[in-house]
Amino acid sequence: MSSDVAFQSSIGAGPSFTYGIDEVLTACPRSGKLLDVQYDWNRVPVPSSLKEFEARWSRRGNPLDFSGVWRFRELLPFAPDNQIVTIGEGQTILQNSPQVARYAGMNTGCLFLQYEGLNPSGSFKDNGMTAASTHARMVGAKVAACASTGNTSASLAIYAGVTGLFKVIVFVGSGKIAYGKLSQALDYGALTLQIEGDFDDALKQVQAVSKEAGIYLCNSVNPFRLEGQKSIMYRVLEGLGWEIPDWIVVPGGNLGNSSAFGKAFIELKQLGLIDRIPRLAVINAAGANTLYELYEKGGLRWNNGSPDEALVDSFYRSMDSENRRAKTLASAIEINRPVNLEKCLRALDACDGVVREVSDEDILDAKAQVGAGGFGCEPASGASVAGAKLLRQQGIIAPSDRVVCILTGHQLKDPSATVHYHAGNGQTGGSGADSAEKFQNRPVAVPNNMETILDVIRKMR
Ligand code: F0G
Repeated sequence: MSSDVAFQSSIGAGPSFTYGIDEVLTACPRSGKLLDVQYDWNRVPVPSSLKEFEARWSRRGNPLDFSGVWRFRELLPFAPDNQIVTIGEGQTILQNSPQVARYAGMNTGCLFLQYEGLNPSGSFKDNGMTAASTHARMVGAKVAACASTGNTSASLAIYAGVTGLFKVIVFVGSGKIAYGKLSQALDYGALTLQIEGDFDDALKQVQAVSKEAGIYLCNSVNPFRLEGQKSIMYRVLEGLGWEIPDWIVVPGGNLGNSSAFGKAFIELKQLGLIDRIPRLAVINAAGANTLYELYEKGGLRWNNGSPDEALVDSFYRSMDSENRRAKTLASAIEINRPVNLEKCLRALDACDGVVREVSDEDILDAKAQVGAGGFGCEPASGASVAGAKLLRQQGIIAPSDRVVCILTGHQLKDPSATVHYHAGNGQTGGSGADSAEKFQNRPVAVPNNMETILDVIRKMR
């Protein structure tokens, strides 16, 4: 496919500035706004129905057709086939979960879990990183960097390690990322900088360093990355036999996913490939709830591309003056300054969206239920199930609605959170050292003695 059908353009109302895809930009140099990758759809051979993409699977010997991102490549047509960087991402599953449906108060058959933890690096980030790596290759980047709460860094590092196309530097907040994720960046060979501070500090720093040193930046301000993340929605629709669910529920951190999902649906509707857009629920952790505060309490809206910037500025000013820092056990979404805020507002507008906040305790209980009735997930992902449960309680989601909760990261990313929860050592935000978490499954200490072990087993039921 020819790459000149694609271009970059600034978002929002006012003049739309456009740039070629050969330019490496993370914001519009003229308006300061985020950039989108846009296409001249009249020149793209888009299939007449989504079902046509199914034929690709029978040709999965071709790595581009095997990839759960690139088999939809006509919907993100910015790269010629021979430039695409893929490591087999996007082989993920949409699972109907009766157990989790029961927990959330939904009818059996109505709640689905989309397991993005099944990606090569164990999180949804690979959907985006395959696209960012492709663009990095197209522009000849030799060094790439990101700031991360752990998953972006693991993902960028695996793409660099497997392909050998570029070197990687990752910036992580010191003590702020789960061990599973840190271990990945180290193992995959990334230069790992643990900087004093949290993710918000690390992101600010990596942006400045990348600009200064001409390093290719792979955070979600990179518009190419979000193109890849659109494919999560294509696979959800595929998992539902191309039917449209009523709700997509997703945790919100830097708001890349929610932004990408909104763009995916806007485009599919524009292309006549879907006839309606599902509703979107973005779930913040209560300790990192900027979007919730601004959208639900402050009434901030997309407003045809002119969101109230003064409201956002004054929110951040008071956050800074009170030195309010994000704080949640769901470390992946411990973010107070979501860079994709405006794109997320656009998505919420297009998808008639809502935003909720949930406590760490609710997040971990929901996570335990996903573990007990599904493949498991990391804490941040539990926020989507906790959010669906809350929206059901509030009567916003009906029991018969079809709801898809996005499970963004693998359970083994953060084993400490899981073990602390089940072992009940009081580090999970529950009510104290000896308090039982709601769905606790304590390990049982036994002597190395058969009789005692049999005694314990007999009492099992
Ligand atoms: N869930 C997980 C497991 C994540 O790692 C992240 C973000 C999110 C949800 C939030 O997604 O930013 O698109 O709203 N992790 C980033 C990182 C920030 O550095 O790995 P978002």
